[in-house]
This record gives sequence, C-alpha cells and structure tokens, in this order.
Amino acid sequence: MIRKCLFPAAGYGTRFLPATKAMPKEMLPIVNKPLIQYGVEEAVAAGLSQIAIVTGRGKRAIEDHFDINYELEHQISGSDKELLLEDIRYLIEQCVFSYTRQTEMKGLGHAILTGQSLIGPEPFAVVLADDFCVTSGDGVLAQMVALYEQHQCSIVAIEEVPRAQTASYGIVCGEEIKPGVIKVASMVEKPEPEEAPSNLAIIGRYILTPDIFDILESIPPGRNGEIQITDALDIQAQQGKVVACHFKGLRFDCGQIEGFVDATQHVYKAYYEQGGNYPLSLMEKLSSH
Ligand code: UTP
Repeated sequence: MIRKCLFPAAGYGTRFLPATKAMPKEMLPIVNKPLIQYGVEEAVAAGLSQIAIVTGRGKRAIEDHFDINYELEHQISGSDKELLLEDIRYLIEQCVFSYTRQTEMKGLGHAILTGQSLIGPEPFAVVLADDFCVTSGDGVLAQMVALYEQHQCSIVAIEEVPRAQTASYGIVCGEEIKPGVIKVASMVEKPEPEEAPSNLAIIGRYILTPDIFDILESIPPGRNGEIQITDALDIQAQQGKVVACHFKGLRFDCGQIEGFVDATQHVYKAYYEQGGNYPLSLMEKLSSH
C-alpha cells in the first residue's frame, strides 16, 4: 500500500523570474489556489496522506501555507470567506507534512534521493507540482495507484507529445500490454526528435519502488551534469520493473509561461464562467467516491 507522496520543490523556477525571485514557483496560483495545493489534493484523493516536501532556500511560504494561520482564522471567522479555506483546512487536518532541504540543485533524481530520509523503505509517489493535471474522473495519481496495485513495480505517467518536443522530456518505449498500459523496455532523458524511440513523454507523476534510492546513489550524473530520475528508472525498466500509464485527463506544463496561462484560462472558464463544478473542489471529489 502506498502512503507517502514526495514533492520535489527545490528548483529555482528561473523561467518565471522575477516572480520566483522571493516566492517558490510551487506557490504560483492557478486562479486562487497554489499549484502545490492542487498536487496535495490529488495525492489525498488517491489515498496518500503523508506528504514529504523537498524544499530549498526561499521556499518557506510552502511550509506556512500548510499550517494554520491563527490571525487570519480569527479575522474571517463567521464570514463567507471561510468557505475559501475549506480545502486547505481539510488538508492540514488529514495530512502529515514533513520537510527536508536540498542544499545543492543537482537535479530531480538528486532531489528525490534527498527525500529518502522522509520516505524510508517503502513504495511512494512523486508529484512535480508544476505539471498541473485535471481529470473528470479519478485523478492521475489515483489511476497510477490502481496500476501499482496490479503490477507492484514503478509506474510513470505518460502522454503523447509532438515529435519536435521530445528534447524536453524523458521518453519511453516498450510494449502495450493493455490499452493505455505499456511495459517499459527502456527510457531516455530529453532525446533529440531524430533519436527519440517514441513520442511518449513522461510527465511529473511517478510511483517508485524503494530500490530506486540505491540506484540513484550509484548512477553518475547524466544530462546537464544532473542526477536524472530517468536514468535510474531506465535501469529498473531493463529489469522489467517499470509500467507506463497513459493517463486519462489533461496536463498543463505550468513550469513555463504558456502552459501556466493555458491552465489558468482552462480553470477559469470551466469553473467560473460556465458556473459548473469542474474541476471539482476537493470536498466534492472526495464525497463523490
Ligand atoms: P524544473 O526542470 O522545472 O526546474 O524541475 P526548475 O528549477 O523548477 O525550473 P526552471 O527550469 O529553472 O524554470 C522540475 C521539478 O524538479 C524540482 C523542481 O522544483 C521542479 O518541481 N527540482 C529540480 C528539484 O527539487 N531539485 C533540483 O535540483 C531540480
């Protein structure tokens, strides 16, 4: 059973400067909710309530967000503004949050290895909060947890990308064993389009078995001199221990401006303009199960 979800959130977010000079990228809001809160809601909806966050310098706002602000609570007590805090209050009640710091930015693989002390010897999920996902049914992590229960190995979420964009992603290749489920044979980090083995790109959701920590510790730095999670997963894939999940839903790359604006428009249109209830608030999502 998977209980823990790791959020690597130590990156500098340079593509959003100057907004990210003193504020973490993960706190950028899509309409009125920070990216990382959407991520934690997705984890909780998948049954994961132990939230481990890898932070760095200048990321204190994340810890403050997942804590009670007594002055604010007092100020808005009894007003209709309380509704706006319903979801975050629920998360604070339901989850246990723990933090560790990555002192040097040596890549996503290194950030995950830094989280080992918070995770221990058990399978865990990883969410990159700047990949913002919306689904009409189960969240992406819930879809992946269901696959983990069947296969008991590492799971990566994938989507098709235009060939010209393969150099921005980890790319997998393998055999489709069921519609939307691929047994991964190998994967490669950011290949040029002409070298890419497919156009199936890994997005920011993973379930990892704990042997990944030993692999991360043993591999040399890869692309850009960083410890790459894709290189570690490739070793597991060659042992037949990685399955890719072609998830149902939409993903917006909120690590770059265009994706962030698209996500904002999507949520604003769907939620506010049409007066509908999609995407569902956390409360509605949980009560519909
Ligand atoms: P990105 O590649 O988006 O890097 O990292 P970044 O620093 O956040 O953003 P840019 O490219 O400078 O604009 C993907 C994820 O991995 C985390 C980031 O916080 C982000 O969630 N990460 C990356 C770390 O935690 N540590 C690292 O050393 C690198």
